[in-house]
Amino acid sequence: MTENLLNLEKTHVLHTYNRNMVVTRGEGPYIWDGEGNKYLDFTSGISVCNLGHCHPRLTKVIAEQAAKLVHCSNYYINEYTPVLAQKIAEHSFGGRCFFGNSGAEANEGMIKFARKWGWLNGGRNEIICMDNSFHGRTLGTLAATGRTKYREGFGPDMQGFSFANLNDLDSVKKLITNKTVAVMLEPVQGEGGVLPVTRDFICGVRKLCDENNLLLLLDEVQCGMARTGTYFAYERFGVKPDAMTIAKAIANGLPMGVFEVRQEYGDVLQPGNHGTTFGGNPLISAVACEVFDIMRDEDVIDNVRTQSWRFFNALNDLQKQYDFIRDVRGHGLMVGVELDTKERLSKVTATCKAKGLLVLTAGETVLRLMPPLNITAERLDEGLEIIKAALQEA
Ligand SMILES: Cc1ncc(COP(=O)(O)O)c(C=O)c1O
Repeated sequence: MTENLLNLEKTHVLHTYNRNMVVTRGEGPYIWDGEGNKYLDFTSGISVCNLGHCHPRLTKVIAEQAAKLVHCSNYYINEYTPVLAQKIAEHSFGGRCFFGNSGAEANEGMIKFARKWGWLNGGRNEIICMDNSFHGRTLGTLAATGRTKYREGFGPDMQGFSFANLNDLDSVKKLITNKTVAVMLEPVQGEGGVLPVTRDFICGVRKLCDENNLLLLLDEVQCGMARTGTYFAYERFGVKPDAMTIAKAIANGLPMGVFEVRQEYGDVLQPGNHGTTFGGNPLISAVACEVFDIMRDEDVIDNVRTQSWRFFNALNDLQKQYDFIRDVRGHGLMVGVELDTKERLSKVTATCKAKGLLVLTAGETVLRLMPPLNITAERLDEGLEIIKAALQEA
């Protein structure tokens, strides 16, 4: 089966992903390849399957809702989307949501919201973003993305974005003009190398926004939904955004992207200003509601904190042992281990895979570890043993 699929992929699928592994099944923290080999999954589908693969309660909701109503268009209100919006509001800053299909689409919507607000408030439309950031692959979100390699070949860039250095408040200050409408950032840069904002920086940006009548836009697509040990990463810093995006884990693998704005901005976007065919359909919204309920019933946040403490202790010990580990950083179960070279990183990821552990990379030299948030101590230790062996061999 694998060979046939690889051939079809080669011939008929655009080669935008450099991939050669067929995956056929998942259960909890494990997935299986086409040959029947079992892997512990510390990628969680890039922080998407945060409750593990095929959680039985989600499988049940998918099956039941699929038999009841999958889609009805956004001309009608379904049973779940308003309830989901309330759940999001209760776990964040009590705002109002728009539902789409992906992280990029959520960020596009948030950018449109900011521009519309700026248009109504002095004709402003420029957004200050961060160097090294990642906000998606659409033309708008690429223009907001600080990692220039993603933009190469797709110019001209959409106008209206400038770039400050993460954790350097002066660099943000210097970019503010009479056209600036917002500052946009990830509380933990994921693709950029698991780089968290400092408390001083994000609090400073919040203050700058308040003083200059700017919006603070947070991209919590990767770091949100309890990944860092609070429902949303901004909570640990005691600041509130004016708008925020959520995607990836919100429906544990079904496509959904959301932007939420504070209540006071609830009327900025008017009927006809924004829309999307599939966004917030009954099937996906029912699943996302269940995701929030499972997180509550299974004390997932408690587990993230407990396992994070164990994980960081073990990784910090390894850093003392190996000079080539330059840094261990992150929050919760969004963990980056910075190594000295790209070559060593490739060796470590390949050895992990050969020993039955799937891991991610980020930036140029960072091993990115994002196990499911409901992982047990035993499974975390199983992964750690493989990481230890891979580092030893590297
Ligand atoms: C912080 C952040 N924003 C936006 C995106 C884009 O999300 P999507 O791939 O769902 O469009 C990603 C994807 O990795 C991300 O990490």
